[in-house]
Amino acid sequence: MSATEDIIGRAELNDIEAILSVTNTDVDEVEHVVKDNSDAIFTWDYSLARPALRKLYEKAKVGQWNATTDLPWDTDVDLEAQITADQAAIGAGVDPNAYIGTAVEKWGDKEWIEFGMEGRRWTLSQFLHGEQGALLCTAKITETVPWYDAKLYAATQVVDEARHVEVFARYIDEKLGGEYQINAHLRMLLDDIVNDSRWDMTYLGMQIMVEGLALAAFGFMHQLTSEPLLKQLLRYVMADEARHVAFGVLSLKEVYEQMSDAEMMDRQEFAYEAAVRMRDRFLQQEVWERMGIPAKDVVPLVLQDATRDVFQQMLFSKIVPNSKKLGLLDRNDSWLRRRFEEMGVIQFEDWENTGDEYLKFDLGQEAPSPV
Ligand SMILES: [Fe+2]
Ligand SMILES: [Fe+2]
Repeated sequence: MSATEDIIGRAELNDIEAILSVTNTDVDEVEHVVKDNSDAIFTWDYSLARPALRKLYEKAKVGQWNATTDLPWDTDVDLEAQITADQAAIGAGVDPNAYIGTAVEKWGDKEWIEFGMEGRRWTLSQFLHGEQGALLCTAKITETVPWYDAKLYAATQVVDEARHVEVFARYIDEKLGGEYQINAHLRMLLDDIVNDSRWDMTYLGMQIMVEGLALAAFGFMHQLTSEPLLKQLLRYVMADEARHVAFGVLSLKEVYEQMSDAEMMDRQEFAYEAAVRMRDRFLQQEVWERMGIPAKDVVPLVLQDATRDVFQQMLFSKIVPNSKKLGLLDRNDSWLRRRFEEMGVIQFEDWENTGDEYLKFDLGQEAPSPV
């Protein structure tokens, strides 16, 4: 078992200074190189050994959509009017009264709407970068997974992820007027996932953790926004994403049932690291900085803001039940359960896991509510 510091780079989960010290120092970077240490594996066993994965593959083939022709790209998006409407419906996503004693205290409607606009650009930009991470990871899984049925499925996911990168990049460029660079916490996590030599770690990091969080976050934004293009775009992406998370759950269930405690400990620690990195990134330090507010002044308050807390927790509504389904919560004296308790997200453990619920996300029906 590793020390917390070895897993997440700091001894205390809420060490603000350590969290904020992780920043993107090369904002002009265009290419980012990561060492991929895995073996590519051929299989000569073409038999139908895993019918559940083959069923997913069949669903993926008929679930394809065309980002160019299936979405209403001629929709006129007035970002300021949209954020004003969204904030009128659900608030700014933070409690303005939580920031008394900081420069934010003086903010009026204008600043909060500007904050909302920057927040929207930032959030969709991180979705975009995460989607590219998924594109690379599923290309990698296609190579590294030893199972024929999984290779076929993973190949369809590569196409799905290309489409997701396409739609987010186009939306940000045409409707939001430019993107944010990748958040450093997210980049560290994507680097670790690509870098790991063990094929199941790609699945765990991407299909269970990153995509599990994305599915919850997309669902939340889909529910809150009234912008018709974004709403439809997210609905289409969610239909694919539910399948992707199910792919992870169905595949890893089989593998993790056979693992030793020591092997499972590595997986539990990696899941914890991923959860913390994603929580850290959602503190959106770059947005505060762009608004002219030093992140160190407000982030401690963000962590205590009850309005914000609900949103933070909701992001884990898929990850926790899926981790439970895989046996990750309770192996090794419930090590990961205790970490999730500390993060305040264990209450989702008995929610439906995505391996069971993914069909509910099919297009043509109302998607399950994220909260
Ligand atoms: Fe995706
Ligand atoms: Fe995905």
